Parts: sequence; C-alpha cells; structure tokens
Amino acid sequence: MTKREQKLSNGAAAVVTGAGSGIGRSFAYEIARRGGAVLCVDLREERAEETAKALRELGAHAVAYTCDVGNAAQMAQLAETSESLLGRPVTLVVNNAGVGLGGQIGDVTLEEWHWCMNVNLWGVVHGCHFFAPRLKALGYGGIINVASAAGFAAAPEMSTYNVTKAGVMSLSETLSSELTGTGVKVTVLCPTVVPTNIVNDGKLPSYRAEFAKSAMTKFALTNSDEVARKTLDALDKGQLYMLPQIDGRIAWMFKRIAPRMYARSLGEAYRLVAP
Ligand SMILES: NC(=O)c1ccc[n+]([C@@H]2O[C@H](COP(=O)([O-])OP(=O)(O)OC[C@H]3O[C@@H](n4cnc5c(N)ncnc54)[C@H](O)[C@@H]3O)[C@@H](O)[C@H]2O)c1
Repeated sequence: MTKREQKLSNGAAAVVTGAGSGIGRSFAYEIARRGGAVLCVDLREERAEETAKALRELGAHAVAYTCDVGNAAQMAQLAETSESLLGRPVTLVVNNAGVGLGGQIGDVTLEEWHWCMNVNLWGVVHGCHFFAPRLKALGYGGIINVASAAGFAAAPEMSTYNVTKAGVMSLSETLSSELTGTGVKVTVLCPTVVPTNIVNDGKLPSYRAEFAKSAMTKFALTNSDEVARKTLDALDKGQLYMLPQIDGRIAWMFKRIAPRMYARSLGEAYRLVAP
C-alpha cells in the first residue's frame, strides 16, 4: 500500500450529514474524488438524492439517506444501517449538518433556541455518540465535526449559534483526547464566512437579512470546496483544529493573546451597529 492510499480520507466509507448543500455537499464530492463511498445524509430528501446522484455520475458509490440529525432514534438507525448501505464498515463521519439563527438574547424565542441547539449541537452529539464506539472498535477512522469561528469569536446577535459551536468545539476536543492511540482521528472545522445556503435557509431578524446575504459573498475568503479539501487534509495529518481562513485565525490569536481587549473591542464595534 502506498503512503497516499494509507491516508484516512482516501477510499473512505463515509457518512456526511447535511450533504445536500454547501459545505456538506463539498465534503461528499471531495471524499468521492478521493475514491470513497458516501452516504449522503440530509433532512431534505431531494437534496440528499441530488448529491448522491451527482456522485454516482462521477462513478462513486453514493446513497441518499433522509434523516434528522437532531433525532436520536433516527441517528441510531443511521449508524445501524450505514455499513450495509456502504457495503463495508464506516471509516469516516462528517458531522456537518447545521442551521443559522440570529437575533439578540431575549428576542430569539426559546423555540428557536431549541431548534438550533437540536440540529447544531445535538446533531453532532448524536453523530459522535453512535459512531465513535464503532470506529474505536474498528481501530481505524476519522470524525470531522463542523463547528465555526463562532465557537470562539462570540459575535453579537449570534448567541444560540455561538453556544452550539462552542459546544461542538468542546465535544471535539474531549473526543480527540479520548480517542488518542485508538487509530481514530478527530478534526474540528471552524470556518468564518463560506458562501452556502445557510443564510437563505436560516432565521434572522429582518433588519439583518440583507446584510447577512451580502456578507456571504463580500466577506468570503474561500469557498466550500476548498474548505472541504483543507479539512480532509488536516484529518489525514491528525490536526485537531482546522481554521481555513486568515480572518478566523486572527480572531483566534487576538482572543487568546488579549481576551479582555477582544471582548471590549467587540462590544464597542457592536454599539455602532446595534438596532
Ligand atoms: N456557511 C458558513 O458561512 C458557515 C461558517 C461556519 C460554519 N458553518 C457550518 O457549516 C455547516 C454546513 O452549513 P452550510 O453553510 O453548508 O449550510 P447549508 O444550509 O448550505 O447546508 C446545510 C445542510 O444541512 C441540512 N440540514 C439542516 N438541518 C438538518 C437536520 N436536522 N438533519 C439533517 N440535515 C439537516 C440542510 O438541509 C442543508 O442541506 C453547518 O454546521 C454550519 O453551521 C457554515
């Protein structure tokens, strides 16, 4: 076996959640390009099928699977059936499905809090809970959890989203420690802005909708394909953190070097644009 063939991301048997759009779709494509088989999981059946069909046209083994990542029973069922659908044991899980939610604390309803927490945090908890023991038993594999720079940057009007992504970072750090030496690697992805459907499909206060839509293109320093490529390469190298953009890396450093100044600057900047 050549060194390239030994890389985790090559020839993987992968489960990708949220594979019907954006970053998840790019992960599915890139895994297929690297010779892998992909179970394309999405809440929206037509989106999952669209991705799986496109991968099959590229010659990959790909199957669409409709599932709500926030539903524990459905995720348990996914873990039970994935091996037979892929034709071999799962070696790579990408817990990517997520939704966007904005608004000030107190304005975001508790129903909205639960909705976002359920997809963004519980979805990843379920993915780790049901798949990590299987990979550990196999003694080989990788888990990519999609968090966000929001997990450490704590931007105003993104409280729920920030909380879910901080949770995903913490979960990934814990999982990485627990899996050390087992042959299973963990990478947590923390992008800033990546043009996808997340704003169109998400819930934002009306006064921010236009800004958020234009920010998706104005402030994007990369695209979802590049993010997927870099993250799979990071997993191959055993890197826990993947911050694909320079703005995210600057925020990460700033907060660590001068946390109080970081919080004050963020607050002062927000005063200029607060509703
Ligand atoms: N786009 C960005 O700027 C950005 C930045 C940082 C992190 N992220 C994260 O990247 C991940 C992917 O988001 P994206 O930007 O590609 O968004 P997207 O909206 O383009 O894709 C998300 C996909 O997840 C699916 N989905 C939603 N709820 C689901 C559920 N309950 N069960 C299964 N599938 C579900 C959607 O149908 C959709 O196909 C998310 O976790 C998001 O928080 C995105």
